Amino acid sequence: MAIRKITEYPENVLATPGETVSEFDVELENLCADMFETMYDAEGVGLAAQQIGLSLRLFVMDCEGVKLVATNPEIVKTEGEQTGQEGCLSVGKVPAVVVRAERATLRAQDLKGEWFQRSAEGYAARCFQHETDHCDGKLFIDHLPKMRREMVVKKFQKEKKLK
Ligand code: NI
Repeated sequence: MAIRKITEYPENVLATPGETVSEFDVELENLCADMFETMYDAEGVGLAAQQIGLSLRLFVMDCEGVKLVATNPEIVKTEGEQTGQEGCLSVGKVPAVVVRAERATLRAQDLKGEWFQRSAEGYAARCFQHETDHCDGKLFIDHLPKMRREMVVKKFQKEKKLK
């Protein structure tokens, strides 16, 4: 296992829809082990392949008791609305308020390629939506009005310079 380097905004891979995962082998298992290790090291609750520079439809998460690997994820059902703060390891965890569905059902394949569905609410549902967005080449700041998006990016770039 190894901690991978986290890809940061505005790297291209973050804005590119990932490719479908079709091999469910030991290589994928090892990759996911690295992704969990990288996510825990960065104190995140979710990490998509794009965030370690790989253009794949794949994410891992461990958020409010929902721990899973999702390959080829899609959100198949949403209900309600929640307004809350959200951040991203690829944007320096600078927080912003994002409106998301309160409940979401994720459909994805596990490490063996078996399809499953999982429903969640609150923060875990937010994580489903945020990570599935990554797989589609979308960042949480893409949900923000232009002014607020620019504020988040400026803050991120400023904090990065200070490091
Ligand atoms: Ni993110």
